[in-house]
Amino acid sequence: MTVTGIEAISFYTPQTYVSLDALAERHGIDPAKFSRGIGQEKIALPGPDEDIVTMAAEAVMPIIERVGSQGIDTVLFATETGIDQSKAAAIYVQRLVQLSPNCRCVELKQACYSATAALQLACSYVARKPDRKVLVIASDIARYDRDSSGEATQGAGAIAMLVSAQPKVQEVGAISGLFTEDIMDFWRPNHRRTPIFDGKASTLRYLNALVEAWKDYQANGGLPYDAFDRFCYHVPFSRMGEKANSHLAKANKMPNAMEKVQPGLVYNRQVGNCYTASLYLAMLSQLENSDEDLTGSTIGLFSYGSGASGEFFDTKVMPGYRDHLFAEAHKRLIEDRIAVSYEDYVTLWDGMDLTQGAPDTARGRFRLDRIEDDKRIYVDRNA
Ligand code: HMG
Repeated sequence: MTVTGIEAISFYTPQTYVSLDALAERHGIDPAKFSRGIGQEKIALPGPDEDIVTMAAEAVMPIIERVGSQGIDTVLFATETGIDQSKAAAIYVQRLVQLSPNCRCVELKQACYSATAALQLACSYVARKPDRKVLVIASDIARYDRDSSGEATQGAGAIAMLVSAQPKVQEVGAISGLFTEDIMDFWRPNHRRTPIFDGKASTLRYLNALVEAWKDYQANGGLPYDAFDRFCYHVPFSRMGEKANSHLAKANKMPNAMEKVQPGLVYNRQVGNCYTASLYLAMLSQLENSDEDLTGSTIGLFSYGSGASGEFFDTKVMPGYRDHLFAEAHKRLIEDRIAVSYEDYVTLWDGMDLTQGAPDTARGRFRLDRIEDDKRIYVDRNA
C-alpha cells in the first residue's frame, strides 16, 4: 500500500490578541479560572482586513515557497467561518498563492471536524494518484457572544498541510475509528454571527465521542493504547485536551500520562480555539515543542466537531521531520504579537463596514482590502 501523509505543515495566526487576564479583570473573575480552569492565556484576534482566506493564504505561502506547487491539483478548505454560501474559500486561496488553474477547489464543513475529513480524503486521493498533491487548509475564527461562557475560548488561526505520497513529516495510518450522533451541542444557523451552544453538555458529548471513536478504531484493528507515544485531541481550550487524555486513559484502565499530551497544548494556550485548525495546531505543537526527537513515534489524533462527529486515527513521525517544519517562524508568529485593551477587543469583535475599505492592519502579505458590491477584494502586497 502507498504510504501517504503530511509532507509539510504550516500555521498562521493574526498579530493581535487580548489576554484572558484583561477579560477576567473586566468581568471581575479570578484570572486563575481562565489560566488554570480552562487553561488558556490569550485570544488571537484578526484585524478588520483579515479573515479565513487571508489567514489561509499566509499559512500556505511558506509551503509553496519551500516545496513549490508542482503536483498540487486539489485544495480542500475546511472551515466553519464560511464567507459565502456558494463560492468556496479555496478558490480565493488558489489565486492568491498562484496555484495552477488546473485545480479542484472545494470547501468542507462539519464544525471542527471537517479538516480531518479533508485529510483522510486527501490521503485516499494521493494513494490512487501518487504523483499528485493536495493542499488541506483549516482556517477559522472562533467567535462567541461577549459575556457568554464561551467568550474565553475564542481564537483564530489557520493550518495548511501538503498531503502527498512523500510524507516527510508524518505518515497517516489507514485505520480510523468513526462516530457520529445527531445532537445540538453547538451550532450556528445561517443568520447568526455567533454559535448557540450548551457548553457543559458539549464537553460531555466530546468525551463520549472520543470513547466511541476509540472503540470503533479498536474494532477496525487499530493499535493498542500502549502503542501510542503521544496523543493530540481537538482543543477548544487546553484543559479539554487534558480531560480527553485522562478520559481515554481511564477507559483503557491505564494511568493518565499527561506528558503524552502537554507539548501539544503549548500553542493552543496562546491562540485559543481555531475550530478546524485546533487539532492540527495541537499536532504541530507536539512536533515543535517536544524536547526529544519524535522520529518513529506513534501519535494518536482525535478529531471532534460538534453536531457531532468524531474520528480517532494514528500517525507516525517520519525520520528527519524536524528539517521539514517551520518551528522558528511559528514561534516568532506567536511571540511577536500585540496585546489590545478590552475596549479595542470590543471594537474588533464588533467588526466594521468594509465597503469604503479596510484599515491596513494585517501583518501578513495578504489583505482583505474592501468589500465592493458584495464582492470581497483581496490584495497581495507583493503583487
Ligand atoms: P464555565 O461555566 O465558564 O466554567 O464553562 P466552569 O465554571 O465550568 O469552570 C471551568 C473550570 O474552571 C472548572 O474546572 C472549574 O472548577 C475551574 P473543571 O471542573 O472543568 O475541571 N475553575 C477554576 N480553576 C481555578 N481557579 C479558579 C476557578 N474557577 C473555576 N478560580 C465551558 C466552561 C467549557 C463550558 C465554557 O468555556 C464554554 O461554554 N465553552 C464553549 C464550548 C466548548 O468549548 N465546548 C468544548 C467541547 S465541544 C467542542 O470542542 C467543539 C467546538 O470546538 C465547536 C465545534 O466543533 O465547532 C466548541
